Amino acid sequence: MRPDVTDQIDNGETTAPNAWIKAAASAGLAGPRPVIAVTLYGQRLVLFRDDEGELGLIGRHCPHRGADLCFGRREDNGLRCPFHGWHFDRTGQCVEQPAEPEDSTMYKTIKLPSYPVVEKDGFILTYMGEGEPPAIAGLADAQQS
Ligand code: FES
Repeated sequence: MRPDVTDQIDNGETTAPNAWIKAAASAGLAGPRPVIAVTLYGQRLVLFRDDEGELGLIGRHCPHRGADLCFGRREDNGLRCPFHGWHFDRTGQCVEQPAEPEDSTMYKTIKLPSYPVVEKDGFILTYMGEGEPPAIAGLADAQQS
């Protein structure tokens, strides 16, 4: 294993290292519905590939009523909540609240946690540490979101 990437270890730790960690195998997103739940360092997240093939890793529970976004609809560049339809892009930013008045801008203040993701060598890696993520050797060959 290269020193710039560590395995995600479910050891009860809640503080992520300042390194890229394995979030999932790429094969986990290979099916017709590329949306999976992952728990990393105590954070419940949803990993998905959007309609454009880009990856997103965002908070799993909708900030409205806590619905599980693993059951969300893949739409545009993100997921739409299955309960009341709030739409989040792959950065976790809420981009639409269907039941709000047409001129409401409240959605701009709502953002789920999100983490950068890259796909390399059959794995999806994420960085949950502090500051900017370190460079990964050969990243030019990888997809970065
Ligand atoms: S619970 Fe997600 S929009 Fe209401």
